[in-house]
Parts: sequence; C-alpha cells; structure tokens
Amino acid sequence: MPHPYSEGNARAMINESHRYGRTGSAYTFCIVENSNSDLMGCVGLRNVNSNDRNAEMWYWLGRKYWHKGYASDAVRLTLQFAFESLHLMKVYAVVQESNVASVNLLERHGFTREAHWRKGSFMNGRWYDVYGYGILRNEF
Ligand SMILES: CC(C)(COP(=O)(O)OP(=O)(O)OC[C@H]1O[C@@H](n2cnc3c(N)ncnc32)[C@H](O)[C@@H]1OP(=O)(O)O)[C@@H](O)C(=O)NCCC(=O)NCCS
Repeated sequence: MPHPYSEGNARAMINESHRYGRTGSAYTFCIVENSNSDLMGCVGLRNVNSNDRNAEMWYWLGRKYWHKGYASDAVRLTLQFAFESLHLMKVYAVVQESNVASVNLLERHGFTREAHWRKGSFMNGRWYDVYGYGILRNEF
C-alpha cells in the first residue's frame, strides 16, 4: 500500500475494485460501524483463479479499530464467502514477517505458513522477508 496514501490513491483503488468486481477476479468488502456506517477498513479477495479455485486474501483496518477483533470477524466472513459461495479450494495470504498482528490473525484462523521468501518485499528503503500462508477448504 502506498505511504503516504493520497486521495488519488484511494480513487484509483475504488475504480480498480469496481473493474475487477465486474469480471469476478476480485471482491472488495467494506467493514463499517453499525451505528454510523463509518468505514473501519476493508477486506477482499484478489487474483481469484476459477481454474485452480484459489484466491489471495488481503485486509486493513484504520488504526483506531485495531485490537478489537474486527479483523478476525472480517477474515472469518470472507473465508466463509470464499469457500461456501465461490467454492474455492484454497485461500492464501502474503505477509511481511515483521507484521505480527497480521501473522497472528492468519494463524488464529487456521492458516499454515507454507513459504518464507527472503527479502521478498522492498518498502521505504528496506528489505523484508515475506511469509506465504494458506488455508484449505476442509481446514476452515
Ligand atoms: C492486520 C490487522 C488488520 C490486524 O488487526 P487486529 O485488530 O490486530 O486483528 P483482530 O481483529 O484479529 O484483533 C485481535 C486483537 O483484538 C483483541 N480482541 C479484543 N476483542 C476481541 C474479540 N471480540 N474477538 C477477537 N479478538 C479480540 C485480541 O485479543 C487481539 O489483541 P492482541 O493483538 O493484543 O493480541 C491490523 O493490524 C491492520 O490493519 N494493519 C495494517 C494493514 C495490514 O498490515 N494489513 C495486512 C497486510 S498482510
């Protein structure tokens, strides 16, 4: 995700979500507060591969919504959508090793660490190792 995140970045992301959504290659879900419909974050599936029946999951929450279990709920519902509505065989996720919250989130939901890419990501002038996580439909 670009940092700093400009309004132009947000508009491009929304347009892209619409475009991919129309073709079924990606799904973007907004996480909103029930009381006032404020946007708390997003969760989605991208690279939906109907031949191999897999997709990549991604997510983010605004900082003030961290540590309350909202991402957990969003991940559970997205996995349910992936396995029960899209009939996928596998959902995977890619995460920087230093992203402890995201690693915990995936492992809490039964994802298995399947890969460790050394220096798999370059961000803000630094290299990071990257983990690949996956969950199969019978593990959900
Ligand atoms: C990754 C990210 C979504 C995780 O958010 P999160 O709020 O930590 O995740 P969860 O919803 O699973 O919440 C778990 C925490 O809430 C606590 N919690 C409180 N009430 C809870 C409830 N009812 N249910 C579950 N957990 C609850 C848990 O104890 C846990 O706390 P801890 O982190 O101190 O152990 C968030 O850190 C984020 O948006 N980061 C920036 C974007 C990003 O990194 N995206 C992923 C790229 S791979």
